[in-house]
Amino acid sequence: PIIFVLNGPNLNLLGTREPEIYGTDTLDDIAGHLDDRARAAGASIDFRQSNHEGHLVDWLQEAQAVGAKAVLLNAAGYTHTSVAILDAIKAINVPVFEVHLSDPHKREAFRHLSYVSMGAKAVFAGHGAKSYELALDAALQV
Ligand code: DQA
Repeated sequence: PIIFVLNGPNLNLLGTREPEIYGTDTLDDIAGHLDDRARAAGASIDFRQSNHEGHLVDWLQEAQAVGAKAVLLNAAGYTHTSVAILDAIKAINVPVFEVHLSDPHKREAFRHLSYVSMGAKAVFAGHGAKSYELALDAALQV
């Protein structure tokens, strides 16, 4: 089984981006840990990042086209704005697990609305890089 891990804008800067909020792990560190964990469970991950909303839409559609078992999605800032990403989640049959390093509900009010949550199977937030691992464990069980 293959699991897509899709990351949105500014997550390429993890490690140096507001480390007091997002931690010091880089996105490559997170990808490495997830890869190990997936392999140990006999699965593989396809890990991607883009700063462009439409790429995330294309990749959600691709997850369905290639028969991915699940998608882990940290849509970053687009979480709180993107009807197009929500529509893509709803358009596919692949379960989507929402991931955030921080807990958006403990932050500014504009982060309290998540379009992604309206289509996601579950949300894993507030555990730093570990949020991805918790989401992977859940995705491996679907
Ligand atoms: C984030 C939370 C979002 O509110 C923010 O825009 C991000 C990162 C997180 O992983 O904590 O870019 O998705």
